Amino acid sequence: MRKLLDILTEQFENVMEECGYDKKFAKITVSNRPDLCEYQCNGAMALAKAHKKAPIMIANELVEKLAGNEMFKEIVAVNPGFINIKISDSFIANYVDDMAKAENVGCEKNIKPKKVVIDYGGPNVAKPLHVGHLRSAIIGETLKRLYRFKGDEVIGDVHLGDWGLQMGLIIEQLRVEQPELVYFDDTYEGEYPTEAPFTISELEKIYPTASARSKEDEAFKEKAHMATLELQKGKKAYRALWKHILNVSIADLKNNYKNLNVDFDVWKGESDAEPYIPAMVDEMIESGLAHESQGAMVVDVMEETDTKEIPPCIIRKSDGAALYATSDLATIIQRVQDYNPEEIIYLADKRQEMHFTQVFRTAKKAGIVDDSVKLIYQGFGTMNGKDNKPFKTRDGGVMRLETLLSDVNDVIYNKIMENRQESEENARATAKIVGLAAVKYGDLSNQTSKDYIFDTERFASFEGNTGPYILYTIVRIKSILEKYAASEGSLDNIETGVNKVLTPSEKNLMMELAKFNATIDSAYEELAPYKICAYIYDLSNAFNTFYHDNKILAEEDKDKQKGFIKLLMITKKALEECIDILGFTAPDRM
Ligand code: ARG
Repeated sequence: MRKLLDILTEQFENVMEECGYDKKFAKITVSNRPDLCEYQCNGAMALAKAHKKAPIMIANELVEKLAGNEMFKEIVAVNPGFINIKISDSFIANYVDDMAKAENVGCEKNIKPKKVVIDYGGPNVAKPLHVGHLRSAIIGETLKRLYRFKGDEVIGDVHLGDWGLQMGLIIEQLRVEQPELVYFDDTYEGEYPTEAPFTISELEKIYPTASARSKEDEAFKEKAHMATLELQKGKKAYRALWKHILNVSIADLKNNYKNLNVDFDVWKGESDAEPYIPAMVDEMIESGLAHESQGAMVVDVMEETDTKEIPPCIIRKSDGAALYATSDLATIIQRVQDYNPEEIIYLADKRQEMHFTQVFRTAKKAGIVDDSVKLIYQGFGTMNGKDNKPFKTRDGGVMRLETLLSDVNDVIYNKIMENRQESEENARATAKIVGLAAVKYGDLSNQTSKDYIFDTERFASFEGNTGPYILYTIVRIKSILEKYAASEGSLDNIETGVNKVLTPSEKNLMMELAKFNATIDSAYEELAPYKICAYIYDLSNAFNTFYHDNKILAEEDKDKQKGFIKLLMITKKALEECIDILGFTAPDRM
């Protein structure tokens, strides 16, 4: 469906052409004086200069030609040459009816769908998920859903950190704790056990212990380094242990992501890039792209237009080890080979910006990807506590994701139990749904690159710009529709459209609703989920005002009531599509 503003603009283009003016000045914008009008056109001001006429004359001329147009309820030229517009009830109502009938609530899919890889989540195997991974998962999931909504083919890849020093640390710590394991017996030649020698909760203790030890014990740290190198070179016993670590960890990660309503298509990791590294590095050296610097191999990526220093990208350390950048470069090779995407989007903390600049430039210089492939780094800000410092537990530790979620759920649970008599079980189930919305909306409603303060009380509030408020609105609509269906039979027989003569709040609701396609498109083009949040917040406000100003279930004029119900149905649909893109759902009651 065409966007409302485009349809309006077209009317102005037509009359401008008729009058011999350049139609590029026809642009219509939403009014910045909502007390005076809904939309405005300021083109006459610019045209006046070119045609040496008074702007008001041009404005009057255009208004005269548009006066009979059924789209407008009011169109007036005001000094010095603005055109103020109010659209007609029937025009907005017909537009909303079309939205109700259209696929995707009137938001068009891309004519040429793109193939896109989204690299998000990025958890590190064997380390528990913490709040730092939360943003990557939440934003990445939303972008995936948004791209799919626009018709693109998206491959969501969790890109595990499964190949680093933490593996050697765990192996060496295991050697300390369980030296009798066959993995540490160099004379052992049989098959390794299929069962892991640890559970997830044991594994989660091993890493912090090992990490702490490595900070005090140089020899231990060196051993962990060696173990990591041996693992990477393919030592059978360590590979077998590594597989166990991976399996146990992934099972737990999957569970955690499920609770977040986050879902990956591909569970690849840094280790999957490993096979591509040797040839890639050799080629960069042979072609002369990489050169030696203090024993390491580096690629210069500084460009003339750079205003700040961009250090060279190190692709091999002096001890021969690969680095984070090497692994990301090799992963691009793997992705091109496996999917040949037109776009790769990376979600990572904004402190990783330099890393991605170096990687992207090296990838292009080395011809690992065509110039046409878009490599996009979407850096996000830090999630802070109320003290404006990175979010921590009360005793200053790293907050685990599970703890954070269950804390929020508890707050919501208490609110639900305060408000009404619910069975504990129902209230718990509802709190889980609402809690997720609180966390996700609290995050996504901020501009991605900005830091934000995680404020449980505020995020969990049922009022204001929050996830629970949006859900509360949807639940309210659901309940009215249910009651209507119970008294009138069903909702299916509502074949009439929305009303064509409107109360003020009814019209306002329709005007908000009609921004759906423009909102989704701009969120998509700018990778800006916060725009969808702002839309559903405005839409919820418009709905709630409408709800307070109009009797819906008590309306005696049955046709008018049907029009209201129809409007509720499409409002609910728009809200639900949006929260689906944002990655949460609404309960039936709350
Ligand atoms: N595992 C990394 C971290 O915890 C994030 C990975 C981001 N993705 C990437 N391709 N580098 O910081």
